[in-house]
Amino acid sequence: MSLTETAHAKINLYLHVTGKRPDGYHLLDSLAVFSDAADRLTYEASDAPLNLTLAGPFGDKLASEASDDNLVMRAARLLADGTDARLRGRLVLEKNLPVASGIGGGSADAAATLRLLDRAWNLNTSRARLLDLAEKLGADVPVCLVQRATRMRGIGEQLDPAPDLPPCGLLLVNSGDAVSTPAVFKARNAAFSPDATLPDSWPDVATMAHDLARLSNDLEPPARALCPNISLVLDTIAALPGCRLARMSGSGATCFGLFDTAQAAQKAAEILHKHAGQWWIHAGSLLQTAL
Ligand code: C5P
Repeated sequence: MSLTETAHAKINLYLHVTGKRPDGYHLLDSLAVFSDAADRLTYEASDAPLNLTLAGPFGDKLASEASDDNLVMRAARLLADGTDARLRGRLVLEKNLPVASGIGGGSADAAATLRLLDRAWNLNTSRARLLDLAEKLGADVPVCLVQRATRMRGIGEQLDPAPDLPPCGLLLVNSGDAVSTPAVFKARNAAFSPDATLPDSWPDVATMAHDLARLSNDLEPPARALCPNISLVLDTIAALPGCRLARMSGSGATCFGLFDTAQAAQKAAEILHKHAGQWWIHAGSLLQTAL
């Protein structure tokens, strides 16, 4: 038996840091959406102790972590804990998304593990318990469990419906720089931002981009200070024909551009490939479903 789950890249269309908890975690208000770009996790039943193999273009970036510390293995152990599940089988993670890059790759992998092994081991875990386990694994894991456009607040555990999104082309660009999330939060020294006011729906990308332009990713200034290549990537995306909005996702360093269509994003990617062939570039679209 072989089962597969996709772990889609999470993009923060805006991200306001609205406060700080006594334990040091930051309170956020963010609109998280998902790209068609994804890691792929496969499970094959076997009697051997559960093990993880890393594959795909970024698999070697994680190779040293293919141990028990990997978020996938931690998610598997957490899910099995207190159930009859035996930690057996073979997991293969096809790592297509750049590592530590602000698009929730590790969180999406952990969430995909919970969904996949819940099916594989016939656990029928309740949604509330899955969300609870997700929160234990990281602030972005609950939204990645849901894997649809969602407004996240708290530190990421409060999930509310997102505005209806229009069909939208999406370009993702990463210069190859890995940025540490705790370092970016630590370097942030601006005042806290308020919660955003959002409409129920956006009829088209131009209207959405117009509204988003008045919001921000509050982690962009500290991330740019730590990693100047982010500014170069953002300026380059903004100058591409048809780009409606260029912004950094999460704590970086991946940046995104919004376009009217996937075709327009693809055209922009072809131009970009000629000038910056060494960058990781993905052209596609936003996943449509909202929470
Ligand atoms: O939860 P996760 O492991 O993704 O977070 C990594 C680090 O990012 C945390 O240890 C914390 O330093 C910082 N962080 C934060 N506030 C959040 C999410 C993450 O301060 N809401």
